[in-house]
This record gives sequence, structure tokens and C-alpha cells, in this order.
Amino acid sequence: MDSIDPISKRISVREYDSREIPEEALKRILEAGRIAPSAMNYQPWKFVVVHDPSRRKALSHGRYAKFLTECPVVIVGCGNKKRSPEWYTVDVTIALQNMVTQATAEGLGSCWIGSFDEDAVKAAIKAPEDHAIVAMLAIGYPKDGKLKIAHKRKSFDEIVSFEDFS
Ligand SMILES: Cc1cc2nc3c(=O)[nH]c(=O)nc-3n(C[C@H](O)[C@H](O)[C@H](O)COP(=O)(O)O)c2cc1C
Repeated sequence: MDSIDPISKRISVREYDSREIPEEALKRILEAGRIAPSAMNYQPWKFVVVHDPSRRKALSHGRYAKFLTECPVVIVGCGNKKRSPEWYTVDVTIALQNMVTQATAEGLGSCWIGSFDEDAVKAAIKAPEDHAIVAMLAIGYPKDGKLKIAHKRKSFDEIVSFEDFS
């Protein structure tokens, strides 16, 4: 079992080619979200898969989300606020990150999207009042065919300490 590979290969991809994602790959991506852990196993989530170009346009109005018009699939991560008011954000986030890892394992690019107007996204996907939009994912084949790793990160020592914070 090797999970560091798709984790370390993942980067945010913001340019996609027009190839559709094979249905089976998309199913495996969604399945990776479905089996994610959640507080009390409440699974307070719904994932709306958007292919339709006009609906993707409606999701793309955020300042850093313009490229959603160009990627073949957007997954909208919705959290059930009533079912799990304290944990829906964490739960949906974990499930979406599982999907990102699976997308990388499938040779696909992805990008988290937090740049959106919640009311506009809710209207576009007809989300009910008791659900919040946690985040969206763009998914598709990278335009230049490759995932180029360019992680700029703080050092290990900066972010890890043992036993206490110091
Ligand atoms: C919660 C969250 C929201 C993000 N929102 C956006 C976004 O709206 N648009 C975008 O282009 N990138 C977005 N990103 C991607 C980050 O900019 C990116 O992960 C970061 O710059 C590190 O680069 P890397 O993902 O290539 O390693 C988001 C990432 C996270 C985790």
C-alpha cells in the first residue's frame, strides 16, 4: 500500500484539456469520498457532480474560479448543517481531499475551489436551505498532459514539534 505517491504528486491544476473523464474513473473518485470518515459516522454530505457548461459557468464567478468554465467536471461539496452542525465542514473537507488523492492516482489534475459566492452556487445546483457549500473541486486532464510538482512549503521543523508547541 503506497499512499504517499498520489499525495506527493498532487498539485493544483488550473488548465485542462477538453477530454472527458472516463465514467469509471469518476466513480472511483466519488467512491473515495463516500468511504471517508466522519464524526459519529453521520456522513453529512452530498456531492454534486456538474458537467453542464452553463451550470459550470454559474459556478465560476469567484475571482479565482474562472477556469471552471474550462474543466470538464466540477464537484460541489455540500455539508448538511442540520445533521452535523459542528463537524460538517471537517467531514466534507476530508471526503473531498480523498477524492483529490484518488483523482491524482487516476492521472487526473484537480484544484480546490474556495472562491465562490455561496448563494450563487446554492442557486445553481438547487441546494436546500439546510446545506452549506463547503468547497468545490475542479477535475480533469491537465492541459500539458503532466502533473508538474512544484510544492512551495514551510520546512518540517517549522511546522512540527513534539510533546508541546515549542
Ligand atoms: C480550501 C482551499 C481553497 C482553495 N481555493 C482555490 C481557488 O478558489 N482557486 C484556486 O485557483 N486555487 C485554490 N486553492 C488552491 C491553492 O491555491 C493551492 O493548494 C496552494 O497554492 C498550494 O499549491 P498546490 O496545491 O499546487 O500545492 C485552494 C486550496 C484550498 C486547500
